[in-house]
Amino acid sequence: MADKDDIKTGKDFGLGIRQKNKAFFLKGSGALDWGMQNRLARIFNPKSGRTVMLAFDHGYFQGPASGLERIDLSIAPLIPYADVLMCTRGVLRACVSSETNKPVVLRCSGGQSILSELSNETVAVDIDDAIRLNAAAITTQIYIGAPYEHQSIKNLIKLIDTGNRYGIPTLAVTGVGADMKRDARYFGLATRIAAELGAHYVKSYFVEEGFEQITAGCPVPIVIAGGKKLPELDALTMAYKAVDQGAAGVDMGRNIFQSDCPVAMIQAVSAVVHKGEKPKKALDMYNTLKARIEAKGKGKRKRKK
Ligand code: R5P
Repeated sequence: MADKDDIKTGKDFGLGIRQKNKAFFLKGSGALDWGMQNRLARIFNPKSGRTVMLAFDHGYFQGPASGLERIDLSIAPLIPYADVLMCTRGVLRACVSSETNKPVVLRCSGGQSILSELSNETVAVDIDDAIRLNAAAITTQIYIGAPYEHQSIKNLIKLIDTGNRYGIPTLAVTGVGADMKRDARYFGLATRIAAELGAHYVKSYFVEEGFEQITAGCPVPIVIAGGKKLPELDALTMAYKAVDQGAAGVDMGRNIFQSDCPVAMIQAVSAVVHKGEKPKKALDMYNTLKARIEAKGKGKRKRKK
């Protein structure tokens, strides 16, 4: 029963002190509702305004790709160093501990494979299931200029509308088909279309020419995918250039989990993204951490013998 005795009348109203109405830190997100902003503030670090998303959703059309054969073994050790996990609901339920407090961006499209037309996707998760899984955001791919362009855009619109109903943001991924030109014109077009349709943030690829125009022309944050595996210094340089030219972080997969030392690589990427560490310094950090991890591994093996 509510206690009615001894109710003290409030006296401390801070008269003369204006109530603060702090602007939300994230580009293009100031007019969103509290739940939406709160989820985005879990994805993007409010201090740096950036994020390191660890992408391991590749299996939904690639099968057990290199580095993702055993997600319980390869991805679990990386989770403490990631800001966000991006994966499918199948892998989330089967291989990721529900005790993790990392926000999850849920892959909500599927229906194709590397053996068929990549743009032929459909929405593959119901919003009810995304809510059950406590998704911080939902995501699908749009394939601009591909055979199923219209269908993929419809998928995005559906996710945005259902997510808006429950305060769950949508990440639009700009998909690239095998024959598509990956230049600033293409990504400028694709990212802008996604934002205009209401995506809360957009994943693109980094391009050497004109990336700044892509981020400037997109009214919501852009994160970059890592793409195919590069030498560590090249991947760190790409991340550095991307954030320097307006990206709000990375959604990186292969350049982390296919690295010689993924645990060291994700920490080096994080230093670049959140602290603006220069690529060569970040590579030194990678090498130092890698040496430490390898020494520890050798020590353990010796003790076992
Ligand atoms: C495609 O499979 C997914 O959208 C990946 O999450 C995305 O391509 C990022 O992964 P990566 O850095 O390996 O390109």
